Amino acid sequence: MGNYTITVLPGDGIGREVTDQAVRVLQAIASRYGHSFTFHHALVGGAAIEAEGDAISDATMEQCQRSDAILFGAVGVPTKPGTNQQIKPERSLFRLRKGLEFFANLRPVRPFKALLNASSIKPEVLQGTDLIVVRELTGGLYYGHMEPGIPGKPSEIRETDKGYEAIDTLLYTEGEIERIVRTAFDIARGRQKKVTSVDKANVLSSSVLWRRVVDRVAADYPDIATEHLLVDACAMHLIRRPSNFDVIVTENLFGDILTDEASMLASSMGMLPSASLGTRKTEHGIFGLYEPIHGSAPDIAGQDKANPIAAILSAAMLLRHSLSLPREAEAVEAAVEACINEGYRTEDIQEEGKKKVGTQEMGQRIAAAVSQA
Ligand code: NAD
Ligand code: IPM
Ligand code: MN
Repeated sequence: MGNYTITVLPGDGIGREVTDQAVRVLQAIASRYGHSFTFHHALVGGAAIEAEGDAISDATMEQCQRSDAILFGAVGVPTKPGTNQQIKPERSLFRLRKGLEFFANLRPVRPFKALLNASSIKPEVLQGTDLIVVRELTGGLYYGHMEPGIPGKPSEIRETDKGYEAIDTLLYTEGEIERIVRTAFDIARGRQKKVTSVDKANVLSSSVLWRRVVDRVAADYPDIATEHLLVDACAMHLIRRPSNFDVIVTENLFGDILTDEASMLASSMGMLPSASLGTRKTEHGIFGLYEPIHGSAPDIAGQDKANPIAAILSAAMLLRHSLSLPREAEAVEAAVEACINEGYRTEDIQEEGKKKVGTQEMGQRIAAAVSQA
């Protein structure tokens, strides 16, 4: 029995649809296990720009700070041709991540057995895949040389006598690298004891520093095997030998790109959850933000087609990390797997002979499986 406060930020497009289902499953957990969850809903992204004039308001940031955890959907709205989008919906993410110091983004990839044939990768290649990408989330090209106190990267397109030019800067301090690398090594200790560090040390100075820090930290973890891979080669190895990976640690942009690729191992973008964590602890666990890795998917928004599983598995990560409720987290994961095993599929997962369901029905079925457990 416990009382917990969760800020819910559904955002835009399918963010709203999948978050509704994640909340539904959390409500089923609350009834089944006798907890009390207080949900505070607030606007982010395009919805907040329209109603409140910014991608996330100060009041919403404060509400997040007062919660045990944040459940986030997705942000992003299609820009109408010719419009100059002054404030971008994505700014809400940058402000949350940087402002709340969520520097570690955990993206586990564990394809369900029943989906091995649904992936575009051969089942024998996928067999045994169980990896986690530890993505640095508050540095690198996303922020560059930031002015103190200003969330998000300043816009840097300028006119010169040779036409327009644009600049992005890739800055990492040794301290920023060390804390994410230590996070990865600590996670590896509870898993298969292997860390793959991914960089572009043949080109980038920030990667040369990254590799140096990894080697120094690795000396403190003699029980963990360490390997370095260049990011282009890693992109190839991920689909050639995914089961050889355990923990992958990498910088912000590489982690973003590699995890969309890795989602195909699990058969769909709609299957991969994430947790964004820092060092702050609440009364109940680690303060964190939980979101599917996918976006607002304007192409399928409003049609009850989105796969809510990534959002629901993100809620499971919330239960585990921020509320310290591992039994409840496992109950959600088991309910998801049960529905997959029974053959229910949203449209993103194309398999002959399976039962096609919409976003809401998938959420209802998973919530029902939680209640019956
Ligand atoms: P996207 O992830 O929204 O969609 C990519 C493709 O995957 C689309 O074809 C979409 O239909 C499909 N897809 C994604 N999630 C799905 C789901 N749950 N079920 C079924 N199919 C799913 O990426 P995009 O189209 O490149 O970006 C759209 C917007 O989302 C952009 O504005 C982008 O900035 C934003 N975005 C936001 C986040 C976030 O909020 N964390 C993450 C990624 C992209
Ligand atoms: C993600 C998204 C975001 C990112 C965008 C929307 C800013 O792609 O969470 O993976 O690049 O971090
Ligand atoms: Mn992404």
